[in-house]
Amino acid sequence: MPTVAVVGTQWGDEGKGKITDLLASRADVVARYQGGNNAGHTVKVGGDIFKLHLIPSGILYRGTTCVIGNGVVVDPAVLIQEMDSLAQKGIDVSGLRISGNAHVIMPYHRLLDKLEEEMRGGGKIGTTALGIGPVYTDKIARNGIRIIDILDREAFSDRLDAVLKLKNAVLQKVYGVEGFTKEQIMEEYLPYAERIRDYVADCSILVNDAIDRGKNVLFEGAQGTLLDVDHGTYPYVTSSWPTAGGIAAGLGIGPTKINKVIGVAKAYTTRVGAGPFPTELSGPVCNTIRERGQEYGTTTGRPRRCGWFDSVIVRYAVRVNGLSGLAIMHLDTLAGFEKVKICTAYRCDGKVIRDFPTNLRVLAGCEPVYEELDGWPEGSCAVKRFEDLPGAARAYLARISELTGAPVAIVSVGRGREETLILEEPFS
Ligand code: IMO
Ligand code: MG
Repeated sequence: MPTVAVVGTQWGDEGKGKITDLLASRADVVARYQGGNNAGHTVKVGGDIFKLHLIPSGILYRGTTCVIGNGVVVDPAVLIQEMDSLAQKGIDVSGLRISGNAHVIMPYHRLLDKLEEEMRGGGKIGTTALGIGPVYTDKIARNGIRIIDILDREAFSDRLDAVLKLKNAVLQKVYGVEGFTKEQIMEEYLPYAERIRDYVADCSILVNDAIDRGKNVLFEGAQGTLLDVDHGTYPYVTSSWPTAGGIAAGLGIGPTKINKVIGVAKAYTTRVGAGPFPTELSGPVCNTIRERGQEYGTTTGRPRRCGWFDSVIVRYAVRVNGLSGLAIMHLDTLAGFEKVKICTAYRCDGKVIRDFPTNLRVLAGCEPVYEELDGWPEGSCAVKRFEDLPGAARAYLARISELTGAPVAIVSVGRGREETLILEEPFS
């Protein structure tokens, strides 16, 4: 009856969707605690591919309660679209619950996301332009609008009076664009509020009750450790706390209630958006990984930057998340190279460092120190048991575990649910 968290250990897109989907089959409750529709979680079920941005992947199992916690930011138009498109595919969404305290993405957040990026010029962060940074900024600045506010016409109207004054001043005076009227926003958002009203609940009570009753609860992280606003490669990060530390605040549970934390890592490294990336590759190896791994953004379609596995990063993720185990994804994508490389440390100003530097200028100057290992043949990962993997692939995984300090609990050898080797069952 444990609770298990799934978090990203790299720059997002590690395959958290597949692992949460897998573990959701054992879970009674699946809860998201941060981020918004900047996440893109792809799950392959039979012949169908589901791309989820906001609703926890657990929704694909009938009877699972799926929670959008207070730490998540909600674009209601996207949420409703996602609910409708799941329903069209015959998926029951009646188990969805949304925290009344979650903040709502408004049209001015999306506009400000674009305008701020334009203003940054060459220093662009490369955001998803979905309003994530601006909505979290407003939350912290106490200018936000929550789900409970839009459910109450009067409260909504009062909040908009207070907030639009500030927002319109910035839009008009700083950016020279037109602002928004209260009527325009209410006309769009009040119908959204009616659509989601029945799904809104006190999710802190819901999750705590489930834990107290001994249910299996899964915490689904979005983004990754290096996109964490505190622990990531700031400022090239998202505006929330994807690390395990974000779970308690983002759901209203105590940290003592988190039993296990599984860190998801690709067998290599990718990144979308700007910022330093020590093991980044270019040329044929990068192209092979990108094409085989289908490394294009789920949310924005952008080609992902690709590089070798960086154990400095994942060792850092083991530390800041207190990882109990690793899920190593895309082992099959790396198959077919004669040799593969793992970054074991960085060389920086003539010194070898093993701890991930969060100073970007230092990180940008770091050269990876590589260890070369034997590759494994193409097609050799299509196995049902870990023992049947080629020796070189098992040696690669063992080295990852040794270098990062966390056991490998799960290995993914393909996109499908069944293409997964479980070495250690997290819900046990
Ligand atoms: P999943 O959950 C990969 C990146 C953006 C950008 C930075 C800030 O699919 O792993 P934002 O719009 O969040 O303000 O953008 O964060 N980013 C992600 N990269 N996977 C994600 O989510 C991401 N969500 C945000 O590309 O560099
Ligand atoms: Mg993604």
